[in-house]
Amino acid sequence: MRVLSGIQPSGSLHIGNFFGMMRSMIGWQEKSELYCFIVNLHALTTVTDGALLARNTMEAAMDFLALGLDPGKSTFWVQGDVPEHAELTWILHNHTSMGLLERSHSYKDKIARNLTPSHGLFAYPVLMAADILLYQANLVPVGRDQKQHLEIARDIAGAFNHAYGETFVLPEPGIDDDLATIPGIDGQKMSKSYGNAIDIFLEKDELAHRVMSIVTDARAVSDVKDPDACNLFGIYRLFVGPEDQAELRERYLRPGLKYSAVKKELIEIIWDFFAPFRERRHELARRPDTVRQIMADGAVRARKVATITMDIVREKTGLIY
Ligand code: ADP
Ligand code: TRP
Repeated sequence: MRVLSGIQPSGSLHIGNFFGMMRSMIGWQEKSELYCFIVNLHALTTVTDGALLARNTMEAAMDFLALGLDPGKSTFWVQGDVPEHAELTWILHNHTSMGLLERSHSYKDKIARNLTPSHGLFAYPVLMAADILLYQANLVPVGRDQKQHLEIARDIAGAFNHAYGETFVLPEPGIDDDLATIPGIDGQKMSKSYGNAIDIFLEKDELAHRVMSIVTDARAVSDVKDPDACNLFGIYRLFVGPEDQAELRERYLRPGLKYSAVKKELIEIIWDFFAPFRERRHELARRPDTVRQIMADGAVRARKVATITMDIVREKTGLIY
């Protein structure tokens, strides 16, 4: 089975990315053929500072490697290094109805947040469809916000298959309901673009500052509290096993719980959770050329697979003459 997913280098990766997608994805390298990539072409829709995009791309690569993505067990590359992504995108544009893209929630959300409604932003899901179809992926692990993009990819694949005969595998989304939407420090979905994220690799004082800023309700220490409505609980539970989760739930349901005490515990828990990866992250940061070489090797491998699909697509569409 082929499992594939990507992440945008549009900012530092955060614990919502980690629990929503990265952890499960890294797990797939042990049991499937895993394709993991950094979607710098997608990030061009929102990042217009070239130096920043280049830096974020390297940082995202280092984050994944530090967190356990093994380039020996998976194919790991940067999207823009494989030109077939852009080529297939153009071909798929011709099998994408305007209505399909006009219904995109993510496009509407971005416009609502005052991003310029560029054609790139509008066509974003077509590039994502090309990413997936190029590798004939069966399963795409993502958070819930990407569900509609997966549906669009399936629609486009179906339209192409209808026009030219069976060509593309229809991908399935891999969404873990329990982890599909990790809350940010303000209780909205955690996102790089909402300023509400807790990044994976923060310095300890920054981590402490973010955790202490988690918004909680105004109940007094003597009140009982509702764990299910509390985003501090929603974040804490990610880092502990079922027993510790149950114990914290009990503490919420008894008078006497102080949110600030829970936050102080959480700082240490998050710090320790990522400790084994932090050392490796520092080591990678000292060897950027090694990281670039890993990505270059990954692109060569990805391109071999992409070329197999593109040869078929070029043949079917009459681009080979
Ligand atoms: P962001 O919203 O921070 O820009 P991306 O859109 O780059 O994140 O998402 C990368 C991956 O991480 C996607 O699969 C997305 O669904 C997942 N993801 C992002 N934020 C969350 C979250 N808060 N909860 C669960 N999954 C998330
Ligand atoms: N749109 C995805 C996100 O913002 C990133 C992405 C681009 C992706 N291409 C992909 C995810 C292909 C999975 C498969 O998170």
